[in-house]
Amino acid sequence: MKILVTGGAGYIGSHTCVELLQSGHQVLVVDNLANSSLEAISRIEQLAGKAVQFIQGDVRNEALLAEIFTAAVATGQPVDAVIHFAGSKAVGESVQFPLAYYDNNVSASRTLMAAMQQHGVNCLVFSSSATVYGEPDQVPVTEDFPTRPFNPYGRTKLMVEQMMGDLVVAAPAFSAVVLRYFNPVGAHPSGRIGEDPQGIPNNLMPFINQVAVGRRPFLSVFGNDYDTPDGTGVRDYIHVCDLAEGHVRALEQLATKPGLHTYNLGTGSGISVLQMVEAYRQASGQPIDYQIAPRRPGDIGCYYADASKAARELNWRASRDLTQMVTDGWNWQRQNPSGYAKN
Ligand code: NAD
Ligand code: WQD
Repeated sequence: MKILVTGGAGYIGSHTCVELLQSGHQVLVVDNLANSSLEAISRIEQLAGKAVQFIQGDVRNEALLAEIFTAAVATGQPVDAVIHFAGSKAVGESVQFPLAYYDNNVSASRTLMAAMQQHGVNCLVFSSSATVYGEPDQVPVTEDFPTRPFNPYGRTKLMVEQMMGDLVVAAPAFSAVVLRYFNPVGAHPSGRIGEDPQGIPNNLMPFINQVAVGRRPFLSVFGNDYDTPDGTGVRDYIHVCDLAEGHVRALEQLATKPGLHTYNLGTGSGISVLQMVEAYRQASGQPIDYQIAPRRPGDIGCYYADASKAARELNWRASRDLTQMVTDGWNWQRQNPSGYAKN
């Protein structure tokens, strides 16, 4: 298949591009590089031993999308499906700049879907998030749990899901795949591609990476009084390569199956902050200094996925364990202490 990957230079997109290429698909990336580097594209090509067609541009640019779909048809290789990673993902920033988030996440997705419809491209795989569930009443979380996101970022994800649901009713040939990621971590085992956050990392693993490599003195552990075995927050961390494989599997199973298909992508088990710190310390051999800090506003104590629907219907399961996640995360950080830009 020929796949248009929006946001393909980013963290999850870059790993998925490698997986797509290695599975024999053609990849065309559109990315405005707002949160990524062109270097990622050349590393994807090196890892897969295949070329990526890269267009630096914005998904909100309707004319650009029309040009891309039309040009693909003209070359005799129309786009078969789109994986839509492009968007903004920082929860705190979404509270500060909600309209920017509605623009870059919701409006952009509407523009993309409209262009797809206009050009007869009938499969969309969308990066959603476990954030859409808000605080679950119980764990593990299944796909039919109520959705009640409590920040603008989460609401943008839910709105796009709802738009996709409405579109498949109006366009019966359309296959809309919603993948709700839990907590993606780790990196490609080569250490050539990985997560490269700008500024102070918001998320746990990139923060630990930077403590391990000496860029930050210590980790603040946000709360040790949750109702969890060691009192620290519990999440379902999933290796980014497992996540990438999940996209390819979803695409291959569902591209020609009309309707709305929604899946949790997680491992199905929870890891606490302190378990993550200890696993990272062992894998890296680095001391990971930490201090207990107050709870982070808006945090939930514990959630993890029930990922059995994806196992049943997509024949996909996360196979990499915590050791692999931290080993690969450290390998990436060690080889690229300042990320892509300054190697
Ligand atoms: P990322 O920021 O590394 O990648 C997003 C990419 O999209 C970047 O390369 C950025 O330059 C590009 N981009 C942003 N806006 C664009 C636009 N308007 N036009 C073209 N390109 C644009 O993020 P990621 O971690 O790889 O996340 C990918 C997707 O998965 C996002 O939609 C995110 O909301 C979702 N998601 C991420 C996580 C996570 O923890 N990383 C969890 C759940 C869902
Ligand atoms: C994990 C745990 C923190 C940083 C966020 C988004 C979610 C999704 C994934 C995009 C929690 C603790 C963290 C630190 C810490 N993204 N922590 N010190 O909050 O589960 O999810 O990223 O869709 O939408 O909300 O992930 O990595 O920020 O936190 O103690 O410096 O680590 O309190 O328990 P979270 P996270």
